Amino acid sequence: MDDELSGHHVIVVGAARGIGRRCAHALAAAGAVVTVADLDGELAAAAAAEISAVGATARSAVVDIVDPAQCAGLVADAADAGPFPDLLVNCAVLYRESPALEQDPDEWAQVVHVGLDGAFFLSQAFARALTTAGVEGRIVHLSSVSSTHPMHGKAAYGAAKAGLDAMTRALALEWGPHGICVNAVAPSHVATEAIEQLGTSGLLPLDRIAERIPLGRLAQPDEIADAVVFLSSDRARFITGQVLGVDGGYSANGDWAPAPR
Ligand SMILES: NC(=O)c1ccc[n+]([C@@H]2O[C@H](COP(=O)([O-])OP(=O)(O)OC[C@H]3O[C@@H](n4cnc5c(N)ncnc54)[C@H](O)[C@@H]3O)[C@@H](O)[C@H]2O)c1
Repeated sequence: MDDELSGHHVIVVGAARGIGRRCAHALAAAGAVVTVADLDGELAAAAAAEISAVGATARSAVVDIVDPAQCAGLVADAADAGPFPDLLVNCAVLYRESPALEQDPDEWAQVVHVGLDGAFFLSQAFARALTTAGVEGRIVHLSSVSSTHPMHGKAAYGAAKAGLDAMTRALALEWGPHGICVNAVAPSHVATEAIEQLGTSGLLPLDRIAERIPLGRLAQPDEIADAVVFLSSDRARFITGQVLGVDGGYSANGDWAPAPR
């Protein structure tokens, strides 16, 4: 465990599973106190217990980020638990896929509600607490290559992520004067348990996806977490309003064929 983030308190939302869970572990390993927050309280508590078991400080919290009052409560409770939270990582997502012609309006709204509205409510609650307390901080959102590189069935998801990217830049502009940096990390496919399962069951052609990526493979969750730790750290102190592709070159590939190797 190093101490790059020692003295910091990070709220990681969507941290009960997948990339968020790995981020929570990596941020704790870098020395931060971690609030593991998620809609799923049971899994969030298990993730926090895992982190505590390796000697770091973690607590869990339940939040539904589409509710601004719950976002404010999350930040206030984290502040009460201490130290004052100055880092926020948002990994919450609702995955729903549908061909655009058959897209159900309610489902469209839910995906955008969690992916974009919730991200804003959470950021706003966090920044309000920081500006009121006169504390500087950093926010990192999880975006996706889907914001710039559309995928079938993912119109709502891609639209939410494109909005998230625009919001990241807008909040960086407005909150820079308060010393709050706002950035995003945009992966292509990441080998989370859920993605691996989709691959095993034949629902996602992972080999073909890997061929599309110049580095020839999917990202490991740790590789996304490393970028999140960097953007949360002082080493990123002059970086704000950026969407950092962590995609093995996926977004650099404009070719129609697999990357030659
Ligand atoms: N997995 C990938 O391949 C991949 C690729 C590109 C981008 N991303 C992005 O990375 C992030 C994490 O993805 P993942 O695959 O690990 O997701 P995941 O589905 O494994 O985990 C998401 C978590 O968010 C929580 N959540 C959902 N709605 C919430 C709400 N309203 N309030 C609070 N928590 C809520 C869920 O309970 C879940 O624990 C997402 O933003 C996703 O878009 C993932």
